[in-house]
Amino acid sequence: MKSIKVGLLGLGTVGTGVVRIVEGHQEDLQRKVGCPIEIEQILVKDKRKQRSIPLPTAKLTEDPADIIDNPDIDIVIEVMGGIAQAKELMLQAIARGKHVVTANKDLMAQHGAEILAQAAEKQCDVLYEASVAGGIPILRTLVNGFSSDRITKIMGIVNGTTNYILSKMSQEGASYEEVLREAQQLGYAEADPTSDVEGMDAAYKMAILGTLGFHTHVAMEDVSVKGISQVSKEDILYGQRLGYEIKLLGIAERKNDAISLSVQPTMVKQTHPLASVNGVFNAVYVYGEAVGETMFYGPGAGEMPTATSVVSDLVAIARNIMLGVSGKTSLAPYNEKKLMSDEQ
Ligand code: NAP
Ligand code: HSE
Repeated sequence: MKSIKVGLLGLGTVGTGVVRIVEGHQEDLQRKVGCPIEIEQILVKDKRKQRSIPLPTAKLTEDPADIIDNPDIDIVIEVMGGIAQAKELMLQAIARGKHVVTANKDLMAQHGAEILAQAAEKQCDVLYEASVAGGIPILRTLVNGFSSDRITKIMGIVNGTTNYILSKMSQEGASYEEVLREAQQLGYAEADPTSDVEGMDAAYKMAILGTLGFHTHVAMEDVSVKGISQVSKEDILYGQRLGYEIKLLGIAERKNDAISLSVQPTMVKQTHPLASVNGVFNAVYVYGEAVGETMFYGPGAGEMPTATSVVSDLVAIARNIMLGVSGKTSLAPYNEKKLMSDEQ
């Protein structure tokens, strides 16, 4: 019986969750795909590092070529993070006809157009559901679920780390530094948490949402960004007395042929549903001209929620391979026209 063979780039928070789900749900996945899914090789920085899951050491490698040049591997999952090497390995994998799943929002927001163009040329699937809002399947919802509508506004609490920090500061009076450390220990924060607290992580995610929601290419320079590092306990208490919660909110709006995108700490009325999104949870509000208001809610970071989205992409691609229709379903509704931001 054929099996789908996977090369995993990275075995940190997300990679570990991917191994747990692929092994723990194997029987179920096999029924959904029509054949077994096997993780063939796993790229890590340091093979000797202690791992939280038992693995035969033969599966671990420090040499990317063991995955990229392995003709048996059908799908590469990139969960190593960073830009330059991750991009290079993804492009090499695509050049060799492999399909790709990634959770890397930094990379997809900045180089997604190039990667997806190369994938289309080589008839490879590239899916990246886990790059935005962890366990919420918001990308396929935007592209497929709203294909009949015209989306004009997307608002989101799309960074789990900062929402965790703001919620704990608001509900428990905890200190910023203490809660940031906790978020790092829980595996929510980026390798360099500056990206979380200064708003860049949320900005990358809003750029991806804007790109898919508005069917255009949103460039990072079109997103205005401010993080939460200057938000004090006093600001939060003051807001609460006036009936508001402070949230790091991403807002993407489309008016005629102009779009505006921003990420900033925002006073949200306590009666608004976004005000009660707490902890590591994320929420994405989508307004469509026909459907009206919708909102999607769920865990925005962490091992198992994020791995759920990664493995769902893996299953989608494995099914395509089994059906002989791969290379046709990437989430890439880019068109030629670039909408101008309001400021330009
Ligand atoms: P992580 O815990 O830091 O894990 C990174 C893994 O990649 C580690 O196993 C590391 O090897 C390996 N690695 C990194 N650089 C490498 C290199 N140059 N060569 C070989 N191996 C390398 O990261 P993570 O939290 O799982 O995040 C991974 C990606 O998912 C990032 O793009 C992140 O933005 C994204 N993401 C994360 C979350 C989350 O909740 N954590 C949610 C959504 C998306 P060692 O183990 O040997 O150090
Ligand atoms: N560091 C990110 C967050 C991980 O806290 O939301 C999920 O993308």
